[in-house]
This record gives sequence, C-alpha cells and structure tokens, in this order.
Amino acid sequence: MDGQLLPVLLLLLGASGLWGQGPGPEGPLEEPPEEEPPEEEPPEEDGILVLSRQTLGLALREHPALLVEFYAPWCGHCKALAPEYSKAAALLAAESAKVRLAKVDGPAEPELAEEFAVTKYPTLKFFLDGNHRHPEEYTGPWEAEGIAEWLRRRVGPSATRLEDEEGAQALIDARDVVVIGFFQDKDVATFLALAQDALDMSFGLTNQPQLFQKFGLTKDTVVLFKKYDEGRADFPVDEELGLDQGDLSCFLLTHSMHLVTEFNSQTSRKIFAARILNHLLLFVNQTLASHRELLAGFREAAPSFRGQVLFVVVDLGASNDHVLQYFGLKAEEAPTLRFINIETTKKYMPADRGPVTATSVAAFCHAVLGGEVKVCSRRSPPDWDQRPVKTLVGKNFEQVAFDETKNVFIKFYAPWCTHCKEMAPAWEALAEKYRDHEDIVIAELDATANELEALPVHSFPTLTYFPAGPGRKVIEYKGTRDLDTFSKLLDSGVHLLHLADDLLLEDGQHGPVLTHLLEHHAAFELVAHLLEVVSAGGRGGEGGSVRQFGGRP
Ligand SMILES: *[C@@H]1O[C@H](CO)[C@@H](O)[C@H](O)[C@H]1NC(C)=O
Repeated sequence: MDGQLLPVLLLLLGASGLWGQGPGPEGPLEEPPEEEPPEEEPPEEDGILVLSRQTLGLALREHPALLVEFYAPWCGHCKALAPEYSKAAALLAAESAKVRLAKVDGPAEPELAEEFAVTKYPTLKFFLDGNHRHPEEYTGPWEAEGIAEWLRRRVGPSATRLEDEEGAQALIDARDVVVIGFFQDKDVATFLALAQDALDMSFGLTNQPQLFQKFGLTKDTVVLFKKYDEGRADFPVDEELGLDQGDLSCFLLTHSMHLVTEFNSQTSRKIFAARILNHLLLFVNQTLASHRELLAGFREAAPSFRGQVLFVVVDLGASNDHVLQYFGLKAEEAPTLRFINIETTKKYMPADRGPVTATSVAAFCHAVLGGEVKVCSRRSPPDWDQRPVKTLVGKNFEQVAFDETKNVFIKFYAPWCTHCKEMAPAWEALAEKYRDHEDIVIAELDATANELEALPVHSFPTLTYFPAGPGRKVIEYKGTRDLDTFSKLLDSGVHLLHLADDLLLEDGQHGPVLTHLLEHHAAFELVAHLLEVVSAGGRGGEGGSVRQFGGRP
C-alpha cells in the first residue's frame, strides 16, 4: 500500500493556509461590510418576492412568516416547481394567510447560499418571526396545494379546536383520515407539532368532557377515524410518560394504511414509508376471476397482523414486471405468495403450493415470523475461484468476505440491472490487475439469487469493501465506478485509515482540518469520499458508511 494520496492532502492543507487560522467552533467568517438596505419592497414575479442579499433582511422584518426558495436558473426541478410555487402563493393570498413566498437566485447570491448552507437546488427554508438564524427546512410536497397546506399548518393552528359534537362530526366527515386528540390539558404542544407534518390527515383537538363521553373515552387518547377497514383506532396516552411524538407518528402511519394495499406507482412510496418492515405480497392476475376470489381470504387474514406485516396485492397486468423480477417470479407462477423483510431484504416463499386461504396466509406469516421458514442460499459452485472475479454465493460469502488476512471488494449485482452490466468490464479489469496480489480479492455476488443472513442490499450495484483485519468492518463504496478510482481505493485504503484517525477529534467528530477539506475541496471528491468513509469507520461513527457486520442493529 503506498500513500499516494498523502502528498495531495498536504498540498491542499498548505495551499489553504489552514494551520494559522483555526476558526473556533462557531467559525464565523468575516462579516462583509454592511450595506444600507434599500427601503422599498423587493420586486415581485408572479406573486413571489425576488430577494437578494440587500433585501432579505428587510423582507424578514416585514414578513413574520416567509418561505424562501433558493433556486438556480439552470435547475430543471426548480423550473418544474416555479408554477406550483406561484400557485401556492396565490392560494394563500386569496385566504389572506399571513405568509409570503420568496425566492433567491443561489448562484447569483453566493453569500446567501453559503450563509444558509444551500448545497442543492431547489432548497426551501421557512423563516418565522424574522429570525434568520434558524430557518426550518421545508419538508412538504412539491405541488401547490401541498406547499400551501404545509405553510397553513405553521402560521395557523395545525389542529382544529373542537367544542361540540357537530364540530367533531363535521371534521370527521370531511376527510378519509381524521385524527382527534382528546386531552384534558397536557400533551397539546406535542400533538400540534406532529400535526404540522402529517398533511394527508386532518387534525382536531378537544378537552370537552361531553366529547370524551360521546366517543367512549375516559382517559387522554388520540383517535384515528378512517372511512375504511376498522373505521377507528385508539392510541391511549401513557399516563405517566405523556404523549411520545415518535410513537404516535408510527401509530398514525400504521393505522392509516389500508389493510390490503394494491401495489402501483402511487402507493409504492407509501408502502415503503410505512415503517412496517415485513411485507406479504400476493401476486395475482386481476383479469382472472379465480385469482380475484383469493383476495377475500388474503384480506381476512390481514387484521391480526396490523402493524407487523403489510399486506400488498401485486397485479401482474399492471406494469409490475420489476416486482416480479425482483422476486425472481414468472407470471405463470401466480397466484402465489412471497414474504420479504425490507430491512434485511430476506425473501421467503411458502413451503408448499397449497391454495391461498385466510388460514394458509396466516400460517405462512406465523411461520416466517417464528423463524420456521428458512432463507435459502445456494451451494458454492465448484469453480467459484477459478476466474479473476471470484463468484460468491450465500454459502461461501461469510468465509471469503470476512477473511481477516484479505482486503475483499465485492460487487453485489442483479442480472437485469443495466448499471451492473455497464461496470462489468471495469470490474473484470480490476480483478485482472490485482490477480497476483495475495491479500486482495475481487468478487461478485448475485444478490437476487442469494439471500445473505444480515447484509441488506438495497440497490444495484452495491460495491462493498471488507478491509483485512479484525472487527468485521464493512465500507460501502460510493465513488466513481471505473478502474482508476477502484484501484486508488485498493492502493490507499489502509493508509487512509491511519491518516483519518489523526484528523478526527476525540469524540469522533471531524477535526477542523478535515471539515475544511470536505467543505472546500469538492473537486477532490475521491479524497473527501475516502476520508469520509474511513473516518466514519475509524471511530465506529454513527450513520457513516462503515458498519460492524454480523448482527441486527
Ligand atoms: C392474465 O390473464 C389473461 C387471461 O387469461 C391473459 O390473457 C393475460 O396474459 C394474463 N396476464 C399476464 C400478465 O400473465
């Protein structure tokens, strides 16, 4: 391993004159000289204030609630957002809502882009009460009504106060999913905060005894009313601990899902956002009556797994080919069930091909959850190590990847994935280049055909580096997929592990030197990237790309 990156790093450090400076933890850069803000209102385009460094301060003083879009003239997403953004402004103006929408051309206003740490376009930030220190990141949808609703829930109350039965009933009737907090006095703030972001539900709030009584409640409770399935679900507030926002949020996500969800491009986002890790899929051809009949039994089994297993129907006819491919299924195999844990990506199939009934569906779920159905993995082929790129399968993966004497670089691929095919020549060339290095193994594993006990593969290709030595370290490679860059990792990985340690502070945070490098030398993406991955690993940093491998988190 030679340290060819060290000179580059030293060069960068020298050039930036960092050693003499040492900005404090707050790191305030020198303030640019104050310019007198012009006193007139900034210009408007389609109801949107157009702000600059000179006018932002004035706008913040004038408008206690201000949403600012940082855009770039060349950015396609910004162009798509523009008409929706203007429409949202018009909707809010029509209601005389006390909120304004504004925009800032990021590339033309680099000081503002830097001050508000804008790294991508569009970025939207919400400023409340003229406080420009801590704007709230916009997290809402990208269409007019969604933007308007996100803002309404911040400038107005996010839940309607309910005083009587008529008010409560009107709210419940108005939408598919309505959530009412019945609180004697505590927990209101937590509830309102949560209601700010759950835009697909309406929220109400009451402390009226007659409403507690009408809905059969004696204690503080959050009730979700829905116009389908069970109709209602109750979340009793813990009397000692109070309302936990995370728990309530989970409860609402879980109980607002339909018991059985049809898979399509609209529902897939919700399915994966539901935070239910187990999914049971029924593959059917909806044009066949004999297949449609199975849905009743499937649905009947669903309620007792609410919150634990998400029931999903996949129609073969509805451009769901990618789902079939992902499960390695052919249309002729329907009707059939598959079970997947989306965290581990382990997939399971029923042991026998019996009919799909409420009983068989429930039995299959219980068997998977109880660990009775084993994930299957293939036997290693006898010639697995004959070619420069070694062929791994479920059976030999563990032994090869975690060999402490070798640096192992593995490509997890899917046979149908085009990016995998594109990078295949570079991978072969890499294996060829290092075939005589005793301590380096270049390998590949078909992640669709082999279930690994604990390594989740979420996208293809996933390139993962398993450095030699103890500790079962796993580094996910996110750099460019070419021979040159791959080689640099193999040549410098170990050296950088030591270097990165010097650049880290005691608590595992980036030291100022490393922070500066990462922020100001984006052109040296590779250096930064490697430092990032190894620094996360050097101290077992949380949320980094390096993980201890071999157990559930
Ligand atoms: C669904 O069934 C119909 C009727 O048999 C058939 O024509 C169609 O090809 C099937 N669809 C798929 C995707 O197999």
